[in-house]
Amino acid sequence: MPTAWQNALEGLHSTPAALAMRQSEWLYPTVEILHILGFCALVGAAGLFDLRLLGLSRQIPVQQMAAHLLPVAWVGFAVAAPSGFLLLLSDARSIGASPIFLVKMALIGLAGLNAWVFHSGVGRSVQTWNQDVNPPLAARLAALCSLLIWVAVIALGRLIAYLG
Ligand code: HEM
Repeated sequence: MPTAWQNALEGLHSTPAALAMRQSEWLYPTVEILHILGFCALVGAAGLFDLRLLGLSRQIPVQQMAAHLLPVAWVGFAVAAPSGFLLLLSDARSIGASPIFLVKMALIGLAGLNAWVFHSGVGRSVQTWNQDVNPPLAARLAALCSLLIWVAVIALGRLIAYLG
């Protein structure tokens, strides 16, 4: 008996947007380029912030780096998520059932959770370690987790095409 998830994938597979993604010669590559631009902005901005939290370039104030980079990360996410959804639509039946895809989605959720824990925890006391000091252990751990998770998300995203 098909599960609710399989039924949902079946439904997604035959939506007009899914048909367009399969039938148009230029739509899939265009969406894929947008996906790449989106996650480059997201992971690039998040990664540079993570490196600062790990203690690199301590002369740059953390708060100024956050003000510069975090909006870029949000815009990147706002491009990567809907374009990723359209890529999923192109072959929802098999991509949506792929364990690699599902682990990738879970890790994106984990990255969000990690960022939330950071911002609502040690991030609140940033004034006390804003510049010229080694960030607290909790901030360094959050940054390390973030870097590892994003590298894994990129690797899994690429692997869907090979091992999906
Ligand atoms: C937000 C962070 C994300 C990152 C870092 C990321 C990363 C990647 C990477 C590296 C690729 C391979 C691109 C290529 O080979 O040209 C990819 C493809 C893909 N991504 Fe994402 N992605 C993200 C979000 C999402 C989301 C939210 C979805 C779905 C809702 C998604 C669905 C897909 C699909 C379906 C593919 C194509 C797989 C295939 O080759 O058939 N991605 N992603």
